[in-house]
This record gives sequence, C-alpha cells and structure tokens, in this order.
Amino acid sequence: MGVRIAGTGSHLPARIVTNDQLATWVDTSDEWIVQRTGIQSRHLLEASEIPSDMGVDAGKKALEAAHVLPEQVDLLLVATNFPDLICPGTAPFVADGLGLDSAPFFDLKAGCSGFVYGVAVANGLIESGLFPRILVIGIEALSRVTDWSDRRTCVLFGDGAGAALLEKATGPSAILGSALYGDASKSMFLNLPAGGTRLPASAETVAQGAHFLKMEGSGVFRNAAPMMETATLAALADAGLTLADVDWIIPHQANQRIIGALVRKLDVSADRVIVNLDRVANTSTASIPIALDEEIRSGKIQPGDVIVMTAFGAGVTYGAIVVRI
Ligand code: ACO
Repeated sequence: MGVRIAGTGSHLPARIVTNDQLATWVDTSDEWIVQRTGIQSRHLLEASEIPSDMGVDAGKKALEAAHVLPEQVDLLLVATNFPDLICPGTAPFVADGLGLDSAPFFDLKAGCSGFVYGVAVANGLIESGLFPRILVIGIEALSRVTDWSDRRTCVLFGDGAGAALLEKATGPSAILGSALYGDASKSMFLNLPAGGTRLPASAETVAQGAHFLKMEGSGVFRNAAPMMETATLAALADAGLTLADVDWIIPHQANQRIIGALVRKLDVSADRVIVNLDRVANTSTASIPIALDEEIRSGKIQPGDVIVMTAFGAGVTYGAIVVRI
C-alpha cells in the first residue's frame, strides 16, 4: 500500500531580525547578505523560549491537519542537531508537550538532512509494520549555538520547526522514492567542537568560544549543489520517475546561490523550486518541513502534486525523498 504524508505543521518564533538589525551587531550589511545568500530576515527565539516548544506547536498542527489524536501516534522521531539537553535530547520534551501517552520517541541527528533522513527511516518502519503512524519533526534552535560576533556564520541562520505525520497510504498520496548518502571524509565541514564527550565543557572551552557552530563555508558551498543533484536523481530513479514528473522541488534552504546552482544542474525552471530562505534563513533540519507546510497551507502545493525534497548537511549527509501529496 505504501506510506503517505497525512498532515504537516510548522512553527516560526514571533521575533523577526532583519539584515539591517544584524548590521548593528556585526560588521555586515543588508547588501552583502542578500547578494551572497538571498537572506533578508530570520525568526529567532527569545532568550526565555524553549526550542522543543517549537516542535510541540508544529507537531500539534500536523496532527490536526492529519485528523490524528496524540494517543494514535505510534512513534515520535525528532530530527535535531542541537537538542534541548545533550541528555535526554529533545524528543522526550516534545512527547510530553504533545501528550503522546507511552509512545516511544528518539532524536535523530543527521545534519540539515535530518528531516529527509527521518521521513525515509519512518517510511521503512511503517512499511515493515512495526509502527503504523509516525510523527517526524525537524526542530532547530541555531541561534543558541551561533557566535553572534562572527559575521561569517551569524547572518545565515534562523530558528524554527516543521512536522509531518506519516501513516499507511489509503489512496494515491505516497512516498514514492528515496536516496540517502553520507560522506564522512567531510565530517568537520560543520562542527561544534566543545560540550560533547570528546571535549567536555570547561571554563577554557567557553573562553575559546568552542561551544559555537564552526563552518567551512566554501567547502559546504562547493559540495552542496552536486550532492543534492545526485540525491534528487537517485530518489527519482528509485521512484521510477524523471524530473518531468515533478511539480515542485524543495531544496534545503541554506543559500540562494546554492539553490541557483542546483536549478542549473537539474535544468529545471526556477518557478518549480520552493524558496522561503529570504524570510526564514537556514533553519537546518526544520527548513524543508517548514517550506512544505507553508506551501501546502498556501494552496501552492495541491493534492496529487509530486515533490522532491533534497538536503545536505553536517556529517556530511545528503539525500532526497520523492512524495506525492
Ligand atoms: N558581511 C560582510 N562581509 C562578510 C560577511 C558578512 N556577513 N561574511 C564574510 N564576509 C567577508 C569575508 O570576511 C571575506 O572578506 P575578505 O575577503 O576580506 O577576507 C569576504 O566577505 C568573502 O568571504 P567568503 O567567505 O569568500 O564569501 P562567500 O562568497 O564564500 O560567501 C558564505 C560566504 C555565504 C558563507 C558562502 O560560503 C556559503 O553560503 N557557504 C555555504 C554555507 C552554508 O550553506 N551553510 C550551511 C551550513 S548548515 C547546513 O545547512 C548544512
């Protein structure tokens, strides 16, 4: 029968920070950020807000859209790279906020590809019969690991969450294909050096700013489009489809220039590519489900549309899924 996305939801913090506001914090400008990235503003958590609460709100909306009650969820899978707490992660707090009864939950860490990985894994678990209904939520609070004095990274990121309820397909809507990859030779392209078990937190690591996300921007930039091209074509082949069958492409929202390079490589019309990074920026694992949910709710994505969602991220991970909505 297959597996379908029965409902989606998303959450963006209320606080919006524009490029001009950022330019009062670090030596940058709206012109530089827009030209190099396409980003104009981002949503950031207030200091008092809790990251997992974004996932609770996105998850509630996805359950409502799918007409599924919290007690009908068989598994919660939270894709995140920067959990509320290193232990026990983020998933338990989301499960509690959603009132999931005794359903199992776990965090999945796969860089910015986390949502794509999560949907592919959930698809397999539902097909196997192990868990009939799985809620997949991408949550990222990048503002909490960003060095706000480093203009090379702080202009890129935003906070948010996006969710999808997956269940056995009853009609034509279905996950049609997937392809997941890793390239561990590039594992330090994106990393957060301290606070884990290799380099535990100490006064010294804090003084060094080693609890902030580090990025080799040009390495990420060079590899991102080829990786998403590879994954897109492989997932389509897995689905037995070609680009001509695709209505929408939702790429990871990292940088407009990366998305532009992908569009040129795939030789598709930019009109078929969904972009919200201008006002949302890069929300890592949350970026694809936020964009998906926004355009399902806006009516741009219609029932029956075929969508490719493709991402790359820390690890390095990359992948794509093909879905009929
Ligand atoms: N404002 C003004 N100047 C800046 C800024 C800024 N915010 N950031 C960097 N610069 C300066 C640099 O200091 C440098 O100056 P210099 O030549 O005097 O040293 C100059 O601009 C050019 O810097 P580059 O790093 O070469 O700029 P580039 O065109 O490569 O753009 C960017 C940098 C936007 C980070 C790009 O490399 C990129 O998008 N990389 C991919 C990043 C990405 O996708 N990250 C996602 C990571 S998380 C994930 O989604 C997996």
